[in-house]
Amino acid sequence: MSNLTSSHVAVMDHETIDAIKPRPGGRYIDATLGGATYSEALLEGSSPDGRVLSLDLDPHALDRARERQKLYGHRWTLVETNFKNLRSVAQDNDFAPCDGIVFDLGLSSDELADPSKGLSFQIDGPLDMRLGPQANEDGLTAEDIVNRWNERELVDLLRTYGEERFAARIANAIVKRRRIQPIRSTMDLSEVVAGSVPSGIRAKTRIHPATKTFQALRIAVNDELANLKIALRDAWDVLAPGGNIAVVSFHSLEDRIVKQTFKQYPNATVSKKPIVPGAEEVAINPRARSAKLRIATKNA
Ligand SMILES: C[S@@+](CC[C@H](N)C(=O)[O-])C[C@H]1O[C@@H](n2cnc3c(N)ncnc32)[C@H](O)[C@@H]1O
Repeated sequence: MSNLTSSHVAVMDHETIDAIKPRPGGRYIDATLGGATYSEALLEGSSPDGRVLSLDLDPHALDRARERQKLYGHRWTLVETNFKNLRSVAQDNDFAPCDGIVFDLGLSSDELADPSKGLSFQIDGPLDMRLGPQANEDGLTAEDIVNRWNERELVDLLRTYGEERFAARIANAIVKRRRIQPIRSTMDLSEVVAGSVPSGIRAKTRIHPATKTFQALRIAVNDELANLKIALRDAWDVLAPGGNIAVVSFHSLEDRIVKQTFKQYPNATVSKKPIVPGAEEVAINPRARSAKLRIATKNA
């Protein structure tokens, strides 16, 4: 059983909830429940009779939220699902149309700290990286990719999803190492990557050399970019006129998809520039460093 208290500190929660403008009687979807700060703010903002539907593919996030659900009773619906199913889940739970939808992308601090998920290069664990049972359809794990994909495919993965400048060196080191012994744990992989990055570069940067490799694998295992495209497209159809979609993203690949999808929304008012966190928030919560909030409003 997971720890029932979340350690996740939500990013730009005030700005995001302000964008949604929850009101009594409204219906809101939180597509990425996590530690539930956004969901509970939506419940408070829509009190006494607004309703919130919260989704997450991580069963531990739902376990934690269930502990708090009794405070809100029938106003709060929790569903373990991938947000690519947003349209059907919204319809099944009477949230289509709804008045606002939030996405806070990526992973929570709780998931990062969970050794069994294998998401951190600082905590030893199996090289899994699935955020939950519905992460992908064929049970693909990071271990499968690292030990089975050919060198060319690994280079492409590291370049495309990690924007990793040492993709070729890292892929080559992985292939050489797995000939001797399969790479099974986060620490194994982290050491292989660190050993393949030039020592001068390693000394110069404060960022761990395995950061981008882990990002790339996580994106691939959870099919993050494809799922985001589907969810953003369907979210627009589910949204009522006058409603808002707010998306917080954490890297340029996600932000690009958000920006491009928003541009294609018919009948939308879209903020030109993203909102970014203030220096104070970044000082308290380093995760906020790369966050960008974009908002789209469906014209009434
Ligand atoms: C950054 S956290 C959200 C934090 C949340 N806003 C809060 O207030 O604590 C992202 C959450 O989204 C979930 N998630 C990521 N991809 C998902 C997907 N495709 N479908 C559903 N949930 C997803 C993760 O499991 C994680 O719990």
